[in-house]
Amino acid sequence: MPQTNRLIVALDTVDLDRARSWANAVASCSGLIKLGLEFFLANGASGVRAIAGAPVFLDLKLHDIPNTVAGAVRAVLPLRPRMLTLHASGGAAMIRAACQAAVAAGTDRPLILAVTVLTSLDQAALATIGMASPPSEQVLRLGRLAVEAGADGLVCSPLEVAMLRQAFGSAIQLVVPGIRPPGAAADDQARTMTPADAVAAGADWIVVGRPITASDDPAAAAAAIAASIR
Ligand code: C5P
Repeated sequence: MPQTNRLIVALDTVDLDRARSWANAVASCSGLIKLGLEFFLANGASGVRAIAGAPVFLDLKLHDIPNTVAGAVRAVLPLRPRMLTLHASGGAAMIRAACQAAVAAGTDRPLILAVTVLTSLDQAALATIGMASPPSEQVLRLGRLAVEAGADGLVCSPLEVAMLRQAFGSAIQLVVPGIRPPGAAADDQARTMTPADAVAAGADWIVVGRPITASDDPAAAAAAIAASIR
């Protein structure tokens, strides 16, 4: 995918008109629009089509048996998403099935990105679900599994991006949320980095939501972030 603009804007809303107006506001300074479960479950495929013209990243974080995930990938291919997420913890067979299903879209296929450990889970929370190793070890283990199974990239926190870039080199795409411009409110993000620092650490793409969508002037907020990483 030609990388002219590393900014991905997350449009987290159930409101189609609001999402459309945000998409229009940031169209000229963002590389991709990210639509997640909140938007997709409320508006479905027709909602995605209504975000006309913008290249879309569908952040659906798929996690099921291989046959079901492959079917889900095929089901969204007509929407021409440029990126699609799944949980690496679904295992190698599930990831391989998703990648094989995506190939059916030919050169237009979406990049398959794996989420390793949700950034909302700290070491204590991981222990309660039976994962004794530190989060960074688990991220690396699942990242390696996903890449070996064919994933095109990983979604990771700003704190993991340098480690993953070092482990995998330039062969994979690293997509990094938890981004806050200098001085912006952290909201519920616990571990943040500025756009420029995340790119310097190795991010191919940064994902930014509320610092843009909650701003009085989303177009100006997105333009300022895009300029800071150009
Ligand atoms: O508003 P904010 O900039 O925090 O939005 C970040 C976006 O990235 C949200 O859509 C959120 O769901 C997503 N995300 C995240 N952390 C992850 C994976 C995805 O914040 N580990």
